[in-house]
Amino acid sequence: MTCCAGYCAAASFFDSRVAARDQRRYQRRGPDASTRMLLAEIRRWPLRGLYLLDVGSGIGVLATELAAAGLAGATLADASPAYLDLARRNVGSRYAGRPTQFMLGDFAATSATLPEADVVTLDRVVCCYPDADALLSAAAARSRRLLAFTHPPNRWYLRAGFAVMNFFFRIGRNQFRIFVHSPQQMASVLDAAGFVRAAHRESLLWSLSLYRRPEFPSPSP
Ligand SMILES: C[S@@+](CC[C@H](N)C(=O)[O-])C[C@H]1O[C@@H](n2cnc3c(N)ncnc32)[C@H](O)[C@@H]1O
Repeated sequence: MTCCAGYCAAASFFDSRVAARDQRRYQRRGPDASTRMLLAEIRRWPLRGLYLLDVGSGIGVLATELAAAGLAGATLADASPAYLDLARRNVGSRYAGRPTQFMLGDFAATSATLPEADVVTLDRVVCCYPDADALLSAAAARSRRLLAFTHPPNRWYLRAGFAVMNFFFRIGRNQFRIFVHSPQQMASVLDAAGFVRAAHRESLLWSLSLYRRPEFPSPSP
């Protein structure tokens, strides 16, 4: 099954070779920096009994790492069949007895067919997609409580680095592109969807924003 109901460049860029490389890195070093940032923030919240939807799940690192938090179940959605195959293997046994689903496709096009979740995550996904507004508004529509996402901050050295990488993609006839989206614009999409920002962290390479529905107050520090 392929995923061409929308943007397919990610599906062909994140192929089995890239997936295998990510898998080796995860086995050697554990979660990457942006994922560690997201995990640290999300683990401050009571997760027991909640349902996770991880959009652009890659090889399933987030769901794997959160399995011990008592989640009721998880859906992993990704545009890449190669990544979802590894996600199935990584996540599978960790959720024994709890429902897990692996959904292939461009989330902006398929989100309405996915179940709602209490917690929706997008770790390093908006930067692989041209239309961050579409991805985030679809994610917001699926989230009952929390929405957390990481993205590159809007800094000159990242904009310059991404422009160089996109130049090489273009001359290599690769349709995949990476994006530094406007943080203000992304925040306005989530504001309009009725979320309030509960946490924000930033490093030189990654920003993390965690949003909550107003009826779910932040945990005490
Ligand atoms: C940089 S990887 C990050 C993977 C994982 N979240 C992590 O941090 O390890 C980006 C992932 O987003 C997926 N992706 C990009 N655009 C997508 C879309 N529109 N719908 C679903 N998945 C998408 C890619 O296939 C890839 O697995």
